[in-house]
Amino acid sequence: MAKELTEQERKDALKNAVAIIRRNLPEYTYRCQDTNTVNGIYKAIDNVEWTTGFWPGELWLAYIESGDETFAHAAGIFVESFRERIKKRIAVDHHDMGFLYTPSCVAAWMLKGNAHAREAALLAAYNLISRFHEKGEFIQAWGEMGAPDNYRYIIDCMLNLPLLYWAEQETGKSVYRDIALRHTRTCVKNSFRSDYSSFHTFFMDMETGKPLRGETCQGYRADSSWARGQAWGVYGLALAYRHTGERSYLDLFEHVADYFMKRLPDDLIPYWDLIFTSGDEPRDSSSGAIVACGFLEAAGSYEKLGEYEKAVSYRRKAKELLKAIYDKCMVRSDEESVNGLVKHGTYSKKSPYNTCTPAGVDECVSWGDYYWMEALVRLGGAWKSWW
Ligand code: GLY
Repeated sequence: MAKELTEQERKDALKNAVAIIRRNLPEYTYRCQDTNTVNGIYKAIDNVEWTTGFWPGELWLAYIESGDETFAHAAGIFVESFRERIKKRIAVDHHDMGFLYTPSCVAAWMLKGNAHAREAALLAAYNLISRFHEKGEFIQAWGEMGAPDNYRYIIDCMLNLPLLYWAEQETGKSVYRDIALRHTRTCVKNSFRSDYSSFHTFFMDMETGKPLRGETCQGYRADSSWARGQAWGVYGLALAYRHTGERSYLDLFEHVADYFMKRLPDDLIPYWDLIFTSGDEPRDSSSGAIVACGFLEAAGSYEKLGEYEKAVSYRRKAKELLKAIYDKCMVRSDEESVNGLVKHGTYSKKSPYNTCTPAGVDECVSWGDYYWMEALVRLGGAWKSWW
């Protein structure tokens, strides 16, 4: 059996993460962290990427862990940037409102009652539902609404939906929840194959709204399973169960999780696409961190259901995935990365069959750092989810 992260290692890892974040605060208080490192270094960018919510999320996690108001202060400065971004509609014509506004602004509202954060997150939720197509019942991921080459959703969107459940709770308007439920149903129906592997993107018929075909953008091939897509599916289904109480989502979670675990190499660091199980292809450690969060989320649900064996089993698997990251990917020195937390992530790797723009192969990635910290804080037990 694989080794689990110990409590001492969890504490060490968080201490290490908080120290790196503290050191990098001057550079990333008024500017954002880029999607990925290049040769181990994140550059500072404007608030324009789909990933810029993760660094403020790390600041909130560092605040929870350390109690140091310095982190909360810096995260509060980001709230203003995110409010301006949605008000001025800067790079928000896509579905990633949850990735952007949940760890930055929902967190700020929950932890500090920041009213600007609430306002910004509600505007982002409104923007997200404006991308819903009644025909086909899905939230369009990218591009101009209704454009034929973009009449599709992607599995990643499962992590954008918690923003809608939150917006329904805040406003009492059922439309947010209704759209989240309908998109989830569409995703569950189409995105998973009979062996519980997953399609990255899924096209719908513009005329009839019927499902058309799965394709990939960042995975190796249309019929393979992009590791991070499968990871978004795992965590997304665990969250969907919590938000809806729909048991079939938790059952599907188990199958999708099993597929992910069975395709891991012995060292438990996922290859960037699950079609690879050995050899020299790059890894995507961020998928392991995301799945660990999904397992901890599901363990909490199984505990509430009184299914203790499953709760214990998913908690153990989460700690195994985290131990692998701790041993093989955690940044321990400036030579590895001056400002990242977790090595061996992959953003987008070009293959002969996919359509992505290559970026961040075998580097630190912003969400990999964030979900690593989320998993570590969650494991400590003192975390109320903002998802
Ligand atoms: N949501 C985009 C990605 O995971 O790369």
